[in-house]
Amino acid sequence: MKKLVILIFTCLVLFFCAGACSSGEPKVLTVYYSLWGNTAILADVIHQAAGGDVFAIEAETPYPADAAHAAAQKHIDEGVLPALKNKVDIASYDIIFIGTPNWFGTVALPVKSFLKEYDWSGKTIVPFATFGGSADNCLTDIVAAAPGATALEGFSISGDDVKNPEKKAKQLVIDWLARINVKVVETK
Ligand SMILES: Cc1cc2nc3c(=O)[nH]c(=O)nc-3n(C[C@H](O)[C@H](O)[C@H](O)COP(=O)(O)O)c2cc1C
Repeated sequence: MKKLVILIFTCLVLFFCAGACSSGEPKVLTVYYSLWGNTAILADVIHQAAGGDVFAIEAETPYPADAAHAAAQKHIDEGVLPALKNKVDIASYDIIFIGTPNWFGTVALPVKSFLKEYDWSGKTIVPFATFGGSADNCLTDIVAAAPGATALEGFSISGDDVKNPEKKAKQLVIDWLARINVKVVETK
């Protein structure tokens, strides 16, 4: 009798936990670094459309917005990757959007630091970027810096266009999410 009660109790716990803990939907995280605000705007559009959580990468010592080229170039020349201020538990997410501004044709240094800090095996990542002239190697370099991850098609847009309502960044993002089979939770 005691065994039966324990069995029924265990089944009830498992039943309620399955209902509460797993909605069957993948857990989505949007991670980005932004110095001048453009990639933050794109990250917000993605976050609003795909749902889930959002995480802003921050350098422990921020790059000066008005002298970023010189500061970043110095770090590149010295082979320095900036220490980061904050951490996120990527283990609890199924799909991770990772966004960067184009810095000298590739991923911004704080995003490089971020990618180096985590184990990407078994994760699904989706790169995105903003740029002044073109995305260059940003999307492929994000993927290359996340060994073991499965990468979905990325998205990039110029920093000017992401701020210009006429360029319809939101619609472009929604179309892209449809292409990569990520459910759109909000379209406002
Ligand atoms: C250090 C630095 C290097 C950059 N290098 C490039 C580049 O090589 N090509 C390009 O198209 N834009 C380049 N840009 C412009 C940014 O990629 C673009 O303005 C981007 O939208 C900025 O994103 P943010 O506002 O999120 O910081 C550079 C900007 C900075 C700060």
